[in-house]
Amino acid sequence: MMAPAAPMTGLEIERLNSINSAAFSAFTFHAYQHILYSLQAGGSIAAFGALVGGAPAGMVICEAAPETANIVSICVGAEFRNRGVGSALLAAAEQELAGKGAGIAAFTYATGKPTQPALERMLAKCGWPQPQPKHLICTSDKRMYAFLSEYKLPPSFEVFPWTEVTPEDRASLERSQAAEQWVPKGLWPFDYEATMEPANSVGVRYGGELVGWLITQPREPDAVCYSCSWMRPDLQRRGRLVAAYAEAVRRQIEFTTKPIGIWIVPYHHESMASFVLRRMKPWLISLSEFRHSRKPLRAIAEETAA
Ligand SMILES: CC(C)(COP(=O)(O)OP(=O)(O)OC[C@H]1O[C@@H](n2cnc3c(N)ncnc32)[C@H](O)[C@@H]1OP(=O)(O)O)[C@@H](O)C(=O)NCCC(=O)NCCS
Repeated sequence: MMAPAAPMTGLEIERLNSINSAAFSAFTFHAYQHILYSLQAGGSIAAFGALVGGAPAGMVICEAAPETANIVSICVGAEFRNRGVGSALLAAAEQELAGKGAGIAAFTYATGKPTQPALERMLAKCGWPQPQPKHLICTSDKRMYAFLSEYKLPPSFEVFPWTEVTPEDRASLERSQAAEQWVPKGLWPFDYEATMEPANSVGVRYGGELVGWLITQPREPDAVCYSCSWMRPDLQRRGRLVAAYAEAVRRQIEFTTKPIGIWIVPYHHESMASFVLRRMKPWLISLSEFRHSRKPLRAIAEETAA
């Protein structure tokens, strides 16, 4: 635990709009900065800035939804940390989400950053339940191919570029899903097509039927994210999906200029998570996890109404 720092004096929290948010744009990820330009009074997304003695010191962005609302990002400038600014921003976001009728606020973050202990302490201070592991996040480079290429598919299986998926493939997958419900929520390949990387997304056919896929997405500037993979459960054995990964990695090396692969594996896909931890780990450049906490907002809404 850190030695307590003097509480921050001269702290103000202000609601941001598309104009005054410009001074705070450094306090979020590059990929979220566009959100600030379109902030609107009464919109589902809100942002609050922290000012210390009039100077921008931090920002939180949150997104309301009827059931689970989200803390999108929170950041405090290094020189203002550990003095309660983060907690004050988080409280402002919770108040906003509760006021918009959200029952629960969710916060998801990646481990491994130097300020992780401060973030977890801030959440605990603000009454958030102990965060739970949700996804593994791994990065690798082309050395991963040397490992994955040991896995081969039997000749009855065909791995093909997803760009060649046919109307018949689509129709047969729709039919078999309607009949057997074998594709879990979140892994339906067609949902990823709009943002996919065409160079190395692949499908797998067995007996001429579409039974598996690995859809990837570009992550600028230098990575491809292995986002959505699944194979019909009765065919998932002896590393068959891993063989599809091998082909996708081969295609990334051959057909893209991006050297990094990002693998996101939900812990609830137990066999894949355990494969990453037991077998892939020595070939990874980095291994961290997303943790997740959910805080009920009912009490805040009741306090505000009273
Ligand atoms: C996480 C972050 C927002 C916290 O902001 P902050 O203004 O420092 O937060 P607070 O001061 O309200 O709370 C931090 C707490 O962590 C404590 N802390 C700091 N370092 C710690 C450590 N190594 N171990 C334990 N506790 C620690 C502080 O002492 C403080 O607790 P206290 O009030 O009981 O003394 C800030 O560290 C940050 O901007 N990090 C980088 C961005 C980030 O990772 N954002 C999250 C993902 S979007």
